[in-house]
Amino acid sequence: CSGSIRRGPLLGFAAIDVQTAPDFDQVIVADGYQAEPFFSWGDAVLAGAPEWQADASDDWRDQLMQAGDNHDGMHYFPFHDQPSAHGLLVINHEYINPTLHPDGFKWQDRKRVPAQVKKEQAAHGLSIIEIKKDQHGQWRRVPDSPYNRRIHAMTPMQISGLLAGNVQMKTRADPSGRVVLGTLNNCSMGVTPWGTYLVCEENWHHYFCNNDEGDYETRISHKRYGVAQGKRSKYYAWESVDPRFNATPDANQPHLGYVHEPNRFGWVVEVDPFDPDSTPVKHTALGRLCRECAVVSVGDDGRMAVYSGDDTKGEYIYKFVPDGVYKEGSRQLNRRLLSEGTLYAAQFRDDGRGRWLALRLGENGLTPDNGFADQASILLNTRAAADRAGATAMDRPEWIAVHPHTREVYVTLTNNDERGDKQPLNKANPRPHNLHGQILRWNEEQADPAATDFEWTVFLLAGEADTAESQAGDIVADNLKGNIIGDIFSSPDGLMFDGDGRLWIETDYDDDAQQNQNMGCNQLLCADPFSREVRRFLVGPRGCEITGITFTPDFRAMWINVQHPGLHYPASDGKSRPRSTTVLITKLDGGVIGA
Ligand code: FEO
Ligand code: CA
Ligand code: CA
Ligand code: CA
Repeated sequence: CSGSIRRGPLLGFAAIDVQTAPDFDQVIVADGYQAEPFFSWGDAVLAGAPEWQADASDDWRDQLMQAGDNHDGMHYFPFHDQPSAHGLLVINHEYINPTLHPDGFKWQDRKRVPAQVKKEQAAHGLSIIEIKKDQHGQWRRVPDSPYNRRIHAMTPMQISGLLAGNVQMKTRADPSGRVVLGTLNNCSMGVTPWGTYLVCEENWHHYFCNNDEGDYETRISHKRYGVAQGKRSKYYAWESVDPRFNATPDANQPHLGYVHEPNRFGWVVEVDPFDPDSTPVKHTALGRLCRECAVVSVGDDGRMAVYSGDDTKGEYIYKFVPDGVYKEGSRQLNRRLLSEGTLYAAQFRDDGRGRWLALRLGENGLTPDNGFADQASILLNTRAAADRAGATAMDRPEWIAVHPHTREVYVTLTNNDERGDKQPLNKANPRPHNLHGQILRWNEEQADPAATDFEWTVFLLAGEADTAESQAGDIVADNLKGNIIGDIFSSPDGLMFDGDGRLWIETDYDDDAQQNQNMGCNQLLCADPFSREVRRFLVGPRGCEITGITFTPDFRAMWINVQHPGLHYPASDGKSRPRSTTVLITKLDGGVIGA
């Protein structure tokens, strides 16, 4: 598979400058390109959706028909008639901002208004929209498409795999343990070769609380994931009006009330965008994490890996290898591939070798004596299983990307201010108090996605150039210096290869923080995997992160997301409420992006 590696110059655009002005409120892109807002929070999704109100007075019923908030991972699925001119765009809505409501809300509010909570639940999940180029070559949304769909925190979903029907999944409202309402905190994603979308559930633990001290201390499925201990969940206090978010055991209720509700999140959810009536499926075989992504790699023989990062300080990188083999055209058989297989956690050794540790009953210390009664409990308490197996604690694994020609795998480790204190230093996580993050890459043995051994290197350490001074004129501390060849950035997050093998890198850092003043606003950059050169392609408005990235199959249209802009984007008029927005990027001459 490595015969067609392109070795010519990959980066065909001139880099743009950092944007450090505190009132910078636009998206700018490299010369010769244009970037235009395409799909914002509140835009109509379903036919008949009311127009978004600038004062945010739309109620939860309106919100169910409109784009959700905090656009994150996304993917363009082509139709066969005109693959690069007609498709479905699927977009995650990770969480909500206080700007969702006319007068916002305070994070410390303990007693929430029920209609506000419903609107917040409606603004989570994902949007599926049909899009098409018109006769002038302009991309348009198709407002009355039967494919247009909103999936949200109240949409019924079916549980698949070993945990389906398990007692640990049963609740007062779902004695079957097989049907969950909704998906939460959908950050990055994945795509299967059979044309379905894999939604990932990241910081779901922030939506629950457990007020029973003794139970909390012994319940690994809450404590190891950081479900809040006490009367209030971390951010939204939905439990004050919606009992399923209070995971305190209630001995008087079947299945202890909602104590198992958090067990029903942290999975990969498979959605078929081409079947608007389909029920999303939560796959438990891939383990339960605060999952950033689920990225598929397929070998020449059809063997597969699905890679995931667990984005929390000191957590792990995983891969799932299905028992079955991918066969093109066998859609029904392929759809079973994510129900049975082996879950592994990654161990990065200082000699540059790595090993995938099977999280399988009876192996790597995963025995009843060590608290793992059966395989279901390993999948439910994946983090604890990976602890026991001896996986390597990483600096917040975010997105993963697989090189289209070599199957080399890249991962962003966004940052970890606790490295060196709570986790030991090692060659894969080499900087104490790591504020800028790094990108690692590895090759599976013989480029086989199902291999159990790999070789890894650091692709780059993000941060300041060696010669840098801070804006205040101080010498930059050693731990803030990186080794980027080219344009600097901090906290890599989104990561995607295009068809030629350009590596697109998106950033998520606090542009107010002292250590990021030289970086300015968040960015989209492009790297050449061979020369390791990095060039800045796009800069977003103050306060946002840049996330989500997808292309048409001809790589002449690109969409990225501006998430939680801080000022007034996309109106950028000094007064309007900011809106998370999908941005369309094209080259003025119609050419391949980045070339
Ligand atoms: Fe939602 Fe790890 O970013
Ligand atoms: Ca985010
Ligand atoms: Ca992310
Ligand atoms: Ca991030």
